[in-house]
Amino acid sequence: VRRLRVALLGCGAVGAGVLAHLCSRPDLFDINPVLVRNTLSRPGGGAVRFTNDLHAALAGEPDLVVELMGGADLPADIMASALSHGRHVVTANKAAMARHYDRLHTAACDGGVRLSFSAAVGGGTPVLETLERLAASGGTVRIEGVMNGTANFLLDRLAAGDPFDAAVKEAQRLGFAEADPAADVDGHDAADKLSLLIRAAFGAAVDPAQIAKDSLADIDPAAVKSAHEEGLAFKQIGCCELAGDGRVQAEVRVRAVPAHHPLAGARNEENRFVLTGADGSEHALFGKGAGRWPTAAAVFADIMDIHRGLSEPDAVDFAASVPARAPALLRA
Ligand code: HSE
Repeated sequence: VRRLRVALLGCGAVGAGVLAHLCSRPDLFDINPVLVRNTLSRPGGGAVRFTNDLHAALAGEPDLVVELMGGADLPADIMASALSHGRHVVTANKAAMARHYDRLHTAACDGGVRLSFSAAVGGGTPVLETLERLAASGGTVRIEGVMNGTANFLLDRLAAGDPFDAAVKEAQRLGFAEADPAADVDGHDAADKLSLLIRAAFGAAVDPAQIAKDSLADIDPAAVKSAHEEGLAFKQIGCCELAGDGRVQAEVRVRAVPAHHPLAGARNEENRFVLTGADGSEHALFGKGAGRWPTAAAVFADIMDIHRGLSEPDAVDFAASVPARAPALLRA
C-alpha cells in the first residue's frame, strides 16, 4: 500500500478533524507541515508540524492537497495551480467551488487528477453522490432542502424563544457557523450549495450571486416562536427546479412549513434534502449538515477514495482480464 504525501491547508474546525483522521493512519499518509494562520497557538514537539508559509505547506511534491482554508478566490487559485501541476485536491469549500467551478474542473481534467468536494454540500450527508447515482436512472428535476445547519440551528433557537445574537454565538462555539456568520444568516452559504447541486443534478451553471435569497435577519423572532406554538416550523429552504424548456429556477427562502412537511423535522444543524426524479420518484436524505466530525469524515472519505484509486492501479487491468479467466473459473 502506497503512502500518500498530503498537504493540509487550514486547521480550523474541520481541518483539525481531518488532521486527526490523517494522523490515525500513519501507515497511509505522510503529512506536510500544516498551513495555519498563527503558528504561535500550535504546540510544538508533536509528530505534526505547523507553518504559516504556503510554500512550506506545499513543499515536497505532495500527491494530494486538502484545502480547508476558507475564503473563495485565494483557495480557488491555490487549488487550480495544484490541479494543473498534477496534484489531486479534496476540499469542503463550497464558496470556492461554486464561484470557480469551471476553472477548477478544467484544471483537474487538464492535470489528469481528481477534484473531490463531497463535504461542500450536506456536510456528512452524501447528497452529491446520490445525485450522481440518480443521473444514471433518468436524473433529477427538483431539489428542495435545508442545507445550512447554522440557519436551521438559529431558527430552532428562535422557536424556543432564545435571543438571536446569543444563538449566533452558540452556533460559532459549536463550530457550525462560517467565519463570517452573515454567509449563513443571509443565505449566501445555502446559495453556494444550491449552485453546486444544480451543477450535479442539471449540469447547468448558475451563479450563486444571482440566486434570490431571504435573510434570517429580516424575520421577526416573535413570529418564529408563535409559528412554533401553532405547530409550524420556520425553515431556510433552498429549492431548484429544471423546467421543461431547460431553464433552471432557484431560490433560498425562509418560510414556515407545516409539521407534516418532510423538511419540518430537521433539528439543530441537521440537513435534509428531497430529490425528485424525472420519473416522479422522491428520494429523501437526512444527515448531519455541519460541525467538525461529520464534515471531517466526509472529507476523509474523499481522501480514502483517492488513496484507494492510487493504491489499486491494477483494478482496471483486473477487470479487463476477467473474460480470460472466466473459463477457468467456470471449470472450477
Ligand atoms: N456554515 C455551514 C452550515 C457549515 O452551517 O451549514 C457547513 O457547510
